[in-house]
Amino acid sequence: MIIVNKVAAIEHPANVTTGFVPTMGAFHEGHLQLMRRAKEENDRCVVSLFVNPTQFGKNEDFSKYPRNLERDAELAESVGVDILFAPTPEEVYPRASSMIHVPEVTERWEGAHRPGHFDGVATVVCKLFNMVQPTTSYFGLKDLQQCMVVQRMSEDLNLPYALKFEPTVREPDGLAMSSRNAYLTEEQRAVAPMIYRQLTRCKDALVDGSLAATELSASEAALKNAGFAVDYFELVELPSMQPVPVWSSNSAIIVTARLGTTRLLDNILF
Ligand code: PAJ
Repeated sequence: MIIVNKVAAIEHPANVTTGFVPTMGAFHEGHLQLMRRAKEENDRCVVSLFVNPTQFGKNEDFSKYPRNLERDAELAESVGVDILFAPTPEEVYPRASSMIHVPEVTERWEGAHRPGHFDGVATVVCKLFNMVQPTTSYFGLKDLQQCMVVQRMSEDLNLPYALKFEPTVREPDGLAMSSRNAYLTEEQRAVAPMIYRQLTRCKDALVDGSLAATELSASEAALKNAGFAVDYFELVELPSMQPVPVWSSNSAIIVTARLGTTRLLDNILF
């Protein structure tokens, strides 16, 4: 594996397929699974590691986001990554940048709770795509709205790169793996798996014929009772991310719930 910091150092050999995984580092099994898939399905695997300042709000965790290049490089190498692209903020943003705004699919949920977040995500993902010029890029369904935003941007802007979305990797107790789980106290970590238990309970109840409105509020109430501050627990349709009253095969239940200052995101597909 080679580590490169400069865009100009990324080679684009002819007749070589490139699987690309954009990340912000602090690797866990969710990231590693995307890398393994990218490597399996392509001649080479490129991973970017860049904590993107433009997708963090003023009062968010940009400065305290976990950074450990040495550990991440070892993990990436262990799953067969060929190129780890770890640019500085100045390399990615040498001056004030043109920004991409993706409409509609960004209006609600994370877009509403984190103003400007998806402009930052869309802009950096587009820039990274053009720097790496991948055949196929791999994203985790854990961040479902992010997947729909990247898909919408790619379609609207005619980007010539394929996308693949991979299943959420979970801890044995069901908690979706996330770099932010490290912020949880022991007590918070013990109640956190309730998010996925409520997602599965609610989905099963809907599939069995129960009313969505009833079951969504029951799950929200159960989480609040257990000490979560629930930002949303909703039934949406893909790829629009608009709320729907009745489930279908294109539905997902999405949730963001906070324990203290840590926001935990999860979802379940139908
Ligand atoms: P980051 O949070 O580092 O996530 C990198 C990729 O790993 C994303 O596609 C994310 O959905 C995926 N991922 C995270 N946890 C996962 C899990 N438990 N199971 C499966 N996949 C998981 O998402 C970002 O970085 C940034 O917004 C980025 C796209 C890199 C743009 O800056």
